[in-house]
Amino acid sequence: MNYAFILGTHPGLSVAELLAVLGDNDVSWENERVLVKKNTEINAENLIGYLGGTLKIAEIEMEVPVNMPVPALAKKCAELLQTKAKRGEGKLIFGLSDQGVGGHFQVEKLGLTIKKELKSGEISSRLVTSREKELSSVVVGQNKLLSKGAELIFFRQGQTLIIARTLSIQAYKELSRRDFGRPVRDDHSGMLPPKLAQMMINFAGQISVDGLFLDPFCGSGTIINEAMLMGYTNLMGTDLSEKAIKDSRVNAEWLRELYGLEIRAKFHIKNATRLAQFLKPKSVDTIVSEPYLGPQRGLNDIAAAQVELAELYSKALDNFYNILKDDGRVVMVWPVFFGREFIEPQLDKWQVINLLPERFLNLPWLKLSERGTLLYHRDGQKVWRELIVLEKIN
Ligand SMILES: C[S@@+](CC[C@H](N)C(=O)[O-])C[C@H]1O[C@@H](n2cnc3c(N)ncnc32)[C@H](O)[C@@H]1O
Repeated sequence: MNYAFILGTHPGLSVAELLAVLGDNDVSWENERVLVKKNTEINAENLIGYLGGTLKIAEIEMEVPVNMPVPALAKKCAELLQTKAKRGEGKLIFGLSDQGVGGHFQVEKLGLTIKKELKSGEISSRLVTSREKELSSVVVGQNKLLSKGAELIFFRQGQTLIIARTLSIQAYKELSRRDFGRPVRDDHSGMLPPKLAQMMINFAGQISVDGLFLDPFCGSGTIINEAMLMGYTNLMGTDLSEKAIKDSRVNAEWLRELYGLEIRAKFHIKNATRLAQFLKPKSVDTIVSEPYLGPQRGLNDIAAAQVELAELYSKALDNFYNILKDDGRVVMVWPVFFGREFIEPQLDKWQVINLLPERFLNLPWLKLSERGTLLYHRDGQKVWRELIVLEKIN
């Protein structure tokens, strides 16, 4: 079957994640927010729970000429809704999202014409609309479009209009609960959004779930918790701070109870720059981590922070080289101050892995840093995050 993936706020990261999970075959990046993967089989409800960067997964149902007149298009959509929408007791509930059709396409007008078309077939319906051209996952969820109706998504591929039906949406309530509802939060050291933690774990590639998975700067344990939910069974978090280890334990226990998980992660107070004294050579399968990112407030001397962090990361990377298996990966966040001041740790023994294939690099909507890496940031943040994936040069 053919699927469309609606990408989140950092589409480059979302695409990198999808490629790491689904592979590169039959994949086309249609516009800033839509990736298509053809000829594959997925379990959309299951998969969306593991993808931090995807907002919706939809199945491609129809392809029609982009200039098809509205009445004819509405008829086709009404037929599709009649066969595929979930029906409750009452009205057929549906919503439409224009995910980059362009031209003269008017999603509201199409919606009303579909409603009339349904009515002429004696089907009463309710059209869910929003101020935006696309319905957010929240609107789709709150209106129960997936359990009691349907959402159709429209986008353009050359002269073809693609119509897809949403199968699953990002579990925004769950993600928010794991972020803001955990017992211990550490706003001082900072925490990764769980979505970004999921993406980073996926960047590590297809790894065995029982291989040793390590976060050596685990803070309050976001990465370990997300890895636990994603099915990894051999998890270890280490951190220099006693408080961080205590917090991680509390948060991990909370998550285990919340989801009824059997797995127990191990946590230890350890300095990441001395890990080789604690863990055996080549005993770790994967390292995923957001280290100390420098002072979050009062960032007066950027040059000094750059030097200090480059030194810390270089020492840590030396240790990672020692404890990581030869085919293992390191996925890290590095800070970029004000979106332009990078750090330069020693990478002599490491190869930097590009997560996006060459053919995507010149797409006009792709935003990369000036050194070609993928960045994550929110409005107003001074410290941006650079995503770095490394493999050992053996
Ligand atoms: C930005 S926080 C990590 C937050 C974590 N990703 C989370 O979401 O909870 C950085 C962590 O690095 C730890 N740290 C700083 N220097 C360290 C070192 N040399 N070895 C191990 N941990 C260190 C700090 O104690 C802090 O908990």
